[in-house]
Amino acid sequence: MNPLEKASKLLACVACHGSLQLHDDALQCEACQGLYRIIEGNIIVFSAVELSGNLLEKTMYGPEYDELIDQVAAAQGVSQKDTVALDFGCGSSLEVFTLANEDKMEIVFGLDYDLAPLQIVSRAAKKKGYDNIFLVQFDRDDIPFQAEVFDLVTSHQAFEHVPRPDLVINELTTKMKPGTIMRADFPNGHSVGELLRELFHRVNRSRNPHISMISLQRAKDYFSRAGLEVEGFDATYALRGPLVYFIEGFVLRFLFRKHKIYSVRNIYRKSFWFRWLGKIDSCVSRLFPQLGQAFVFVLRKPHASPEI
Ligand SMILES: C[S@@+](CC[C@H](N)C(=O)[O-])C[C@H]1O[C@@H](n2cnc3c(N)ncnc32)[C@H](O)[C@@H]1O
Ligand SMILES: [Zn+2]
Repeated sequence: MNPLEKASKLLACVACHGSLQLHDDALQCEACQGLYRIIEGNIIVFSAVELSGNLLEKTMYGPEYDELIDQVAAAQGVSQKDTVALDFGCGSSLEVFTLANEDKMEIVFGLDYDLAPLQIVSRAAKKKGYDNIFLVQFDRDDIPFQAEVFDLVTSHQAFEHVPRPDLVINELTTKMKPGTIMRADFPNGHSVGELLRELFHRVNRSRNPHISMISLQRAKDYFSRAGLEVEGFDATYALRGPLVYFIEGFVLRFLFRKHKIYSVRNIYRKSFWFRWLGKIDSCVSRLFPQLGQAFVFVLRKPHASPEI
């Protein structure tokens, strides 16, 4: 079975959850005959509506991210092993490549509602010879996969972008195999950085793409209601976060109208200030995790408890 055939077996019809049959450039539901397009050989488009720039919020990552992806993918080889991973809200993220190359990753899915970043990943994947990366374009909470297919689920800075993170977390959990892990990070909805961000968007009269404010307590509630156990937790960026927002958001974007700021971010991240603020951060975050700018969770889906 080639990787596309294998991937299509793991996906599910969004209308009736039926299995999908692979045709040349489409997947068809065996039950309701629903058709889903495959574009560029590895992007599966599930949205019923035609995508348009007006409909979809612009993501943070543009073509300039291509270059970064190239550098990282170039440093990595290609691997074909036996586990299946999903990166939820992958954007044009490097994470997909890291996963594709991690030991034992047979198939890596990146899911995002925005087609543009998925096309960037798709191009880069082909350029680097990865045939185990599949991109899924989908814009609802009920994720189009069969139950219990994933050995690993990751999500970086994406839960705050969805209207109902609780539903997404529940859905992701049902798609994980029992005993497997989810790694998720997202901003603390009650942090100084997020309050500054909201203020910035109000002053600027722009839309804050962070539509869900997830506090520490809320995150814990979402995960426990989904039946996930917290295996690891970290709160980061109590001080570095607001500084990044101030430099990037206010000084560069607002005052100087500069939007291509990756190089500035990289310089800042290598600086003395970043390192030292980081050391202070980890002390503050350990004592007061509620002050962190971002939360990192490692969660496990337990095996079903044995029948008594
Ligand atoms: C801040 S970006 C993070 C991207 C990537 N994970 C990274 O760390 O570089 C948030 C991503 O979530 C995606 N997103 C927003 N709403 C979504 C939804 N309802 N379903 C799937 N993805 C969504 C956006 O398109 C965007 O790519
Ligand atoms: Zn169907």
